Amino acid sequence: MEGRPVNLCAMCAWEFDDNDKVTEVRTVYDRFSTLEHAATGVQVHCAHGFLINQFLSPFFNRRQDKWGGLSENRFRFLKQVITSIKKKVPDEFCITVKLNTHDFTPKPGITPELAVEYAGMLKDLGVDMIEVSCGSSTFSYMNMCRGDVPVKELVQSMPLWKKPVAWFMIHSLKGRYDLDEGYNTAAARSIRPVAGNIPIALVGGMRTLEKMSQAVRGGDAEFISMSRPFIREPFIVKKFRENKRDQVACVSCNRCLAAIPNGFPVRCYNKAFPKSF
Ligand SMILES: Cc1cc2nc3c(=O)[nH]c(=O)nc-3n(C[C@H](O)[C@H](O)[C@H](O)COP(=O)(O)O)c2cc1C
Ligand code: SF4
Repeated sequence: MEGRPVNLCAMCAWEFDDNDKVTEVRTVYDRFSTLEHAATGVQVHCAHGFLINQFLSPFFNRRQDKWGGLSENRFRFLKQVITSIKKKVPDEFCITVKLNTHDFTPKPGITPELAVEYAGMLKDLGVDMIEVSCGSSTFSYMNMCRGDVPVKELVQSMPLWKKPVAWFMIHSLKGRYDLDEGYNTAAARSIRPVAGNIPIALVGGMRTLEKMSQAVRGGDAEFISMSRPFIREPFIVKKFRENKRDQVACVSCNRCLAAIPNGFPVRCYNKAFPKSF
């Protein structure tokens, strides 16, 4: 692997046919340890169906060796990633984890119960924060970004021959993922007791200051994390602080998400979605 660019997010846990390959890939994560010179922390992405999520998920990870089967085995890859980073960075280097609390795969992957188990293991590892999320990019991407399903915009990205079937399939998702403000709050609440002193960040549909304060004051989370609201209003936190606003302007239309398969730059397209860029 030396010298080759590696897209870790594009790999699948089942591609590794032996332990050597797993170890080989883990050494790529070892290189992240050199980040200490460029950053003060790193978030290890264990959500949204990417590689580490796949190791953790009984749906994706069907291995019967030391990397699969029991939860401890499925957790082994992540454990090694974190311990190898920890060995090479100073104590104050911040290591956070984005953890799926529900994969929403056709058969059970990470479930809320399993996420609680993993949160306990992350606490034992001494990570600095757990951000709770859900959904997998291959099977349930609308769970990650609840809101409107941008049918026309998503179909636009497809080649002509795929459009009719794509329209039918994507249209059938409409109304099934409507925004439920703070849709990962229950998940944060359930891992709170096992996470102990580890701060929790809550992401997913946080739209009003009221809900944000409730989550923090109620002890469900220490941090509020946002994505789409910042795409629309990069300075929204400043506006909150100056009491100019008490909710975000993002309406969760998900056109910024549809920009990705269309190859457009990510920005707010709520007012208009271009035909080309
Ligand atoms: C355009 C776009 C790109 C995203 N890219 C990523 C990503 O690279 N990594 C990630 O963990 N989540 C990504 N997400 C998901 C967000 O981090 C977040 O989990 C999700 O949008 C829900 O939060 P929100 O309601 O504050 O937008 C993306 C979301 C959008 C809309
Ligand atoms: S396009 Fe704009 S309004 Fe729509 S979800 Fe994205 S940021 Fe929010």
